[in-house]
Amino acid sequence: MMQILVLPTSGLAARAAAQFVGRTLRARPASVLGLPTGRTMIPFYREIARLHARGSCSFRRATTFNLDEFIGLRPGHPGSYRAFMHHHLIDAVDLPEASAHFPDIDGRDPGAYDDRIVRTGGMDLCVLGIGLTGHVGFNEPAAHLSARTHRVRLLPATRRANAYLFHGLARVPKYAVSMGMATILNSRTVILLATGAGKAAIVRRALAGPVTTRVPASLIQTHPNALVVLDRAAAAKFLSS
Ligand code: GLP
Repeated sequence: MMQILVLPTSGLAARAAAQFVGRTLRARPASVLGLPTGRTMIPFYREIARLHARGSCSFRRATTFNLDEFIGLRPGHPGSYRAFMHHHLIDAVDLPEASAHFPDIDGRDPGAYDDRIVRTGGMDLCVLGIGLTGHVGFNEPAAHLSARTHRVRLLPATRRANAYLFHGLARVPKYAVSMGMATILNSRTVILLATGAGKAAIVRRALAGPVTTRVPASLIQTHPNALVVLDRAAAAKFLSS
């Protein structure tokens, strides 16, 4: 079942999603979390850091798996999602560095990531953003989607949306590794957070349109325990549909 929560502002939406993560960690300190990147998530991680500073959530016993990572960046590259996570989460909370996992970017055996997730007991909660193309993680629209972690060629719109990390489009990698849709949907709970008017059209297609590989986020409609957190701007076209 999909529950949809609409908050008046992007800040309140980020806070609601962060509070959900906080409640998950309090209920089960050794939670296994799937985590996203993206500009939408910056206020979300800020709220998580605030909850942590207040003593309301600890990552000490948690394990995290990031959804995706670019291929072809030197280790420590500031545009990498690993760097993003350091900046916005790992350096701000008590998550042990060894407990934060990223997909294998040398691409030899991307599916090893899924095996590792299964070995930790599977994800309790996977937090998702949505790309303008309808992607979750880096699962881009296509006739077929990959179930497991795999290499992807990024669409031009996705590369443009990530240019802020690289000071220009030319430097944005063309390839990435992403968790597959089955791995994401196997998480016991999923939360999708989307904010801003720019996401209103794709949010409507994802939530009110048919379930289709052409909008990978629409597969969330099939999840038995999904929470969608929107601000009013991102919900506008969905609410009027
Ligand atoms: C990026 C990430 C996605 C993220 C999405 C939205 O490309 N790979 O996991 O959900 O795009 O990003 P933003 O929040 O910046 O719109």
